[in-house]
Amino acid sequence: MSFNTKSSALLRCWGSRFWRRRRQQLCPLEGPFWSCFGGARPRPILDMSYSRHFLDFQGSSIPSSMKKLVVTKLSSNFREAVALRQDAPVPLPGDGDLLVRNRFIGINASDINYSAGRYDPSVKPPFDVGFEGIGDVVALGLSASARYTVGQAVAYMTPGSFAEYTVVPAKQAVLLPSVKPEFLTLMLSGTTAYISLKELGQLSEGKKVLVTAASGGTGQFAVQLSKKAKCHVIGTCSSDEKAGFLKSIGCDHPINYKTENVGAVIKRDYPEGMDVVYESVGGKMFDLAVNSLATKGRLIVIGFISGYQNPTGLQPVKAEMLPAKLLKKSASIQGFFLNHYLSEYKMAMEHLLTMYESGELVCEVDLGDMSPEGKFTGLESVFRAVDYMYMGKNIGKIVVELPNSVNSKL
Ligand SMILES: NC(=O)c1ccc[n+]([C@@H]2O[C@H](COP(=O)([O-])OP(=O)(O)OC[C@H]3O[C@@H](n4cnc5c(N)ncnc54)[C@H](OP(=O)(O)O)[C@@H]3O)[C@@H](O)[C@H]2O)c1
Repeated sequence: MSFNTKSSALLRCWGSRFWRRRRQQLCPLEGPFWSCFGGARPRPILDMSYSRHFLDFQGSSIPSSMKKLVVTKLSSNFREAVALRQDAPVPLPGDGDLLVRNRFIGINASDINYSAGRYDPSVKPPFDVGFEGIGDVVALGLSASARYTVGQAVAYMTPGSFAEYTVVPAKQAVLLPSVKPEFLTLMLSGTTAYISLKELGQLSEGKKVLVTAASGGTGQFAVQLSKKAKCHVIGTCSSDEKAGFLKSIGCDHPINYKTENVGAVIKRDYPEGMDVVYESVGGKMFDLAVNSLATKGRLIVIGFISGYQNPTGLQPVKAEMLPAKLLKKSASIQGFFLNHYLSEYKMAMEHLLTMYESGELVCEVDLGDMSPEGKFTGLESVFRAVDYMYMGKNIGKIVVELPNSVNSKL
């Protein structure tokens, strides 16, 4: 098809009754529609293939409004902070964007840090929430259509995924072979483990690696990647079922901290201490991990989940002893925050996807089937899913499924 034919088809679609209605919803103020974009007339934004679906197949139409979760009050109590909106306008993709109909969304420990405004204290409610999702491209901007098309499966890490539809900059999307929740486990949890251990872990054969919250979303990858590097891996968890899962993914020594004294076990079985610690629990577990460090040991601070529900977001640690303890062992502690390592992101994702596709990596998903009220389905269940995480019940990455409300061919 020539450019002109395509352009006129795009313009036809752009002028359709549906999109006129959408434009009015998104820019209800007076003046031409493109004044919303700083006065510049926008380029037509819909891909031709979408217009065909939209015009020919009633079931694939995009509704004008959708459900989404919105932070209405800053609080680390997710239920207090967040409200379900039933009638939010479906957002419009810009020139370089995709409109993604979400099929699976990922729950992260930091969702409650985000709802408490700890990521950017200058942002005031209401604001969107949810870090990552996976779904189908249902519309896209013209520039984005150079690389993407309607119907493709993509994953993304963009704020605002707790919604039926999310606008995703095409540059931040990852093209997938299909919509499967396993891929979602890699986006944030998998890449965090991969990049932090690669950049800061200095893993090599025979090193002793301690992973805390080892059976969780990111812990499962820290365990497996350390094993791939031929390390000896010790993982903490809170139940025998989780310990069984850890064994199944190669963890050499799971420790159920509810029934065993982790410090005593490490002292007894590993008198030389830990070469690397992947630490995400904080508080007493952090203190214990510091005490367990070997000479020249490295502790990577991934998070401190045990403090997130506190008003400060923190759990006290024995900080006054820290300089002496580190000096005595020439040990080090370093923080890792994924957002500071985005230059490594693409490489990490490609590597992890290849590992998963070739059967070298387990991507454990917890869809809530074993939770008290059953599977996490629909945006309403995000609240239950967050509770479930903070009850420490999940094995693998917690994922919420958003069932397709339309009988779509896409
Ligand atoms: N730095 C980064 O860029 C980055 C990126 C992703 C995640 N993280 C961090 O990694 C950690 C894990 O996050 P995730 O999203 O993957 O969650 P997750 O590990 O899937 O789930 C949380 C698990 O943490 C354990 N846990 C230990 N103490 C807990 C407590 N007091 N309250 C609740 N859970 C507790 C529980 O397992 P057991 O008790 O059985 O061990 C629970 O199942 C968090 O600290 C998070 O902030 C950091």
